[in-house]
Amino acid sequence: MIEGADSSTGFGHGKVILLGEHAVVFGQPALAAGIRAGVRAHISSGSGAISAPTWGLEAQVGDDSLPGQAVRLLLERLNTDCSSLDFWLESEVPARAGLGSSAAMAVAIARAIAARTNAADADVLAAAAAAESVFHRTPSGIDVAAATCGRLGKFDKQDGWRDIPLKAPFELCIGLSGQSHDTGALVAGVAKLCAATPVARRLIDTMGDLARAGMDALAQGDVVGLASMFNLAHGLLSGVGVSTPLLDDMVHIARTAGALGAKLTGAGGGGAVIAIAGKHSEEVLRHWRAKGYYGFTSTIGHE
Ligand code: MEV
Repeated sequence: MIEGADSSTGFGHGKVILLGEHAVVFGQPALAAGIRAGVRAHISSGSGAISAPTWGLEAQVGDDSLPGQAVRLLLERLNTDCSSLDFWLESEVPARAGLGSSAAMAVAIARAIAARTNAADADVLAAAAAAESVFHRTPSGIDVAAATCGRLGKFDKQDGWRDIPLKAPFELCIGLSGQSHDTGALVAGVAKLCAATPVARRLIDTMGDLARAGMDALAQGDVVGLASMFNLAHGLLSGVGVSTPLLDDMVHIARTAGALGAKLTGAGGGGAVIAIAGKHSEEVLRHWRAKGYYGFTSTIGHE
């Protein structure tokens, strides 16, 4: 894509949820981080075309596709005429893989619009949140918050995002199962289980406790303590039905390769896993690769 004089760009970060996914929908706190990889949106004069070559996406603003509907809503919220613009998305995060691609896209487009209109930050956030709800029906807001700030933070529905200062950065292994998932359906499945089974609902509160314990560990610079919360959280997430045999396999491989803690991240049902492995990070990636899973490392707490 060639940048013209009328073009503008915006960036949204991908994200990982370290602890508290699903529980955050019920009002519990979660620990998450924006990662360096994300989505860059380029906007120029055009006729409402949306293209994201790395996702194989070709859509039109306002058509029946989820991106078409999401971008239409986003533009409405920012009072922008959609028929006169084209949207070109460069993404470093895979779609529907647990790394917040839809929120990163929404934030990137909202920021590219704001670069033309000087929209206020609060309006950009609200427009991106509206677009995200097209993909995920009743999102807690954590993905959009992480996509916006790109750092480590605590999120809950009541207070929103708070940055968390870190004593020292640490490395996270991120592995992709290659299975795509539907976050809205997974969230609805957990809600149904909890409504029918009070003890499952109590597991949700325990996930919130694990997120609090993980934040306490980080406040002490105790990454080993955080990693052990990962292991407990993966068990609970499996318990409420959002893990899969592939995710369990990847978690098992990571632990066997020397990870201190590993868990699924995000909605589950496919998507991604994360592991804290310290000096064994390369070994974790190598073992995943040997079984056909792509993985990479991301530093949490980078500036
Ligand atoms: C999805 O990245 C995280 C969930 O907790 C859903 C949400 O918070 O909107 C599963």
